[in-house]
Amino acid sequence: MISLGIESTAWNFSIGVVSEDEIIALEGNAYSPKEGGIHPREAAQHHSEIAGDVLKRVFEKVSSSEIDVVSFSQGPGMGPCLRIGATVARAIALKLGKPLVGVNHCLAHVEIGKWLTNAKDPVTLYVSGGNSQIIARRGDRYRVFGETLDIGIGNAIDKFARHIGLPHPGGPGIERLAQKGKRYVEMPYVVKGMDFSFSGIVTHAMRLCDEGYRTEDIAFSFQETAFAMLVEVTERAMAYLERDECLLVGGVGANKRLKEMLETMCKERDAEFYAPPAEYMGDNGAMIAYTGLLMAEHGITMETQDSQVRPDFRIEEVRISW
Ligand code: ATP
Ligand code: FE2
Repeated sequence: MISLGIESTAWNFSIGVVSEDEIIALEGNAYSPKEGGIHPREAAQHHSEIAGDVLKRVFEKVSSSEIDVVSFSQGPGMGPCLRIGATVARAIALKLGKPLVGVNHCLAHVEIGKWLTNAKDPVTLYVSGGNSQIIARRGDRYRVFGETLDIGIGNAIDKFARHIGLPHPGGPGIERLAQKGKRYVEMPYVVKGMDFSFSGIVTHAMRLCDEGYRTEDIAFSFQETAFAMLVEVTERAMAYLERDECLLVGGVGANKRLKEMLETMCKERDAEFYAPPAEYMGDNGAMIAYTGLLMAEHGITMETQDSQVRPDFRIEEVRISW
């Protein structure tokens, strides 16, 4: 079976085509705000302007007659952005006369991670702009065992980065600054049960920079503290669930220091650490195509009239039959 998948939840409009064995095509066009963070309507405008070109590039690599199913990111995400992807998907499905599959974006991050690393039953740390969750499968659902109580770690990093004049997205810039940090400065470490919070760190880090602390030291301390919180809860979930695999996914997963900290934790517990290549960590159409393929193979498709987007769609809502 060959599945075409469209990702458009936020900054990236990306289309992937996959079979059971390989990624056949992946083309995209990222929106980057002129200033500030992502403006949902501006991003949606961007997606609608470039969608045709991205699709054209995909169909230069694969013939439309080979497509068996059309998948799209149904949520969670920004309503205006999601609607562009869903509209394009409906149009292609109708034109080709093929079934449509609405995919949960968080589930797609997890599934492509498992596919590309061969992890079997991991505890997954999913860290992106809008989301920070610790996820593991139990029976026929993925469950969230811990998550952020306020903003995602990526948004926290981006907000701090903007404050010190770095462009959006701030993750790579903060990572580079942090590598030059020498001195650890205490930051709020907020873990409540299995959940955590990042807004306190952001406010504190911004204030220290305003007071004249070296931005390198603050970026370093920010990463050390926030990542330690994530690693602590991931480790507790692994102990509680008795799992010996840890999978890292989501855009923030590109960070080398976070990978290193998780690797160390896994080594100490005699567990395996898995992370897909950086290209598939952040939002991409291949993850939607692959998850859509799994769903379609298990008979989960939808009628066009049921394909409304779901901006608050949670991973637990999906019954897993594979
Ligand atoms: P979601 O809808 O899943 O929340 P998203 O729209 O936030 O996804 P992703 O591509 O999964 O998109 O993640 C983007 C985030 O990853 C941004 O906040 C960005 O700053 C962050 N990021 C990218 N590279 C790095 C890095 N090297 N270190 C830390 N953060 C990074
Ligand atoms: Fe994402």
